Amino acid sequence: GHPHVAYNGPTLQIEQVTASSVAEAFGTPTYVYSRTAIEEAAQRYSQAAAASPVHVALRYAVKANSTLAVLQLLARLGWGFDIVSGGELKRVLAAGGDAAKVVFSGVGKTAEEMRLALDVGVECFNVESPSELAALDRVAQAAGKVARVALRVNPDVDAGTHPYISTGLKTNKFGISQDQATRLALQTAQMGHVKLVGIASHIGSQITTVEPYLDALDKVLDLVEDIERRGAKIEHIDLGGGLGIRYTDETPPTPQQWLQPLLARMVSRGFGHRTVMIEPGRSIVGNAGVLLTRTLFLKSTPAKHFAVVDAGMNDLIRPALYAAEQMVVPAERREGNALKYDLVGPVCESADWLARDRALVLEEGDLLAVLSSGAYGMVMASNYNSRGRPAEVMVEGASTTLIRPRETVEQLYASERLLP
Ligand code: LLP
Repeated sequence: GHPHVAYNGPTLQIEQVTASSVAEAFGTPTYVYSRTAIEEAAQRYSQAAAASPVHVALRYAVKANSTLAVLQLLARLGWGFDIVSGGELKRVLAAGGDAAKVVFSGVGKTAEEMRLALDVGVECFNVESPSELAALDRVAQAAGKVARVALRVNPDVDAGTHPYISTGLKTNKFGISQDQATRLALQTAQMGHVKLVGIASHIGSQITTVEPYLDALDKVLDLVEDIERRGAKIEHIDLGGGLGIRYTDETPPTPQQWLQPLLARMVSRGFGHRTVMIEPGRSIVGNAGVLLTRTLFLKSTPAKHFAVVDAGMNDLIRPALYAAEQMVVPAERREGNALKYDLVGPVCESADWLARDRALVLEEGDLLAVLSSGAYGMVMASNYNSRGRPAEVMVEGASTTLIRPRETVEQLYASERLLP
């Protein structure tokens, strides 16, 4: 599950670079990404798309990892981007991305963000409410433009069958109900500055089976049929992202295994000539990244063995926020007796843990790697406890590039003002 992150004897490497050498050169905590792993993950999607009779538009979900060098790699591979803010749009443009391949998602776009997106010419706004559609029409009118729009529907995929789905349920804040979507779709014909071009759905994240996507697709296609019977025309169907990765023992479908049945369903239902858009994030970058952290102190209480490490919940919040499990491995394997450690950070919160009850042979000063940290790692880092965010390093073969230096404390308060 972690290509290009492997042991060479007792020594952990990212491609041909040892984890220890990265830590020595750039300090810890540091995110390290394998360029080859990112590119291979992206190419698995491109190849699945190329093998299909249906046209597939690839849009990387920037929220998973928005570091410029990562976006640059995907832009060079010809990918477009799925964004959820003006900030992400500016990152895409700064990294060399093509605005004409940008889809703008999210429930809360401001007028300023809509204006920016219209000015640079994004390909589509995924609209999530009647109010947002009205606001977009107004902003587009003021800008003298016509906004291309997809309605994001909430397919209300059955949580009983698929309990891991969290955003495609009717109780979630995301999307428009199917009834409302039909009405809204027909209303767009009366609006001067929006043009309906697509129907979008995104049912959740870290999904490891195809069935809920097929359920959602069927509902989306029912809706498209309904809308088109009433005279509108839908150019593309956006299936969202959400394909899972292996953190511990999951066995998610490959992009090919995921896309093939969905595209076959498109063809069998007579929609083979429409464009399918997809927005994968985690499955592109997740397993390509590790977070390197140094063991500061080993501390045993009557109840527990703790390894206090120099990365905290501010650097990687997934364990604290979702009780997410990510594997933790040593940079150098040691002989000896393993103890079960809780890996905790320096932040003053009991939720500040990275892993629990992990059998490790550890000494103070040992370097550890938290695997599968490439997605929703650095992007969710904060400055709590006035901690600068980690450095980021891209590895390719035997070469390393610092793609973001460690944030300094001085940078944190540089724009603050003391009272007169
Ligand atoms: N498209 C839309 C509209 C989304 O909301 C998302 C993710 C994606 C695409 C990309 O999904 P992916 O392929 O990465 O699963 N912070 C959480 C994950 C939140 C995902 C939010 N939406 C985590 O760390 O697990």
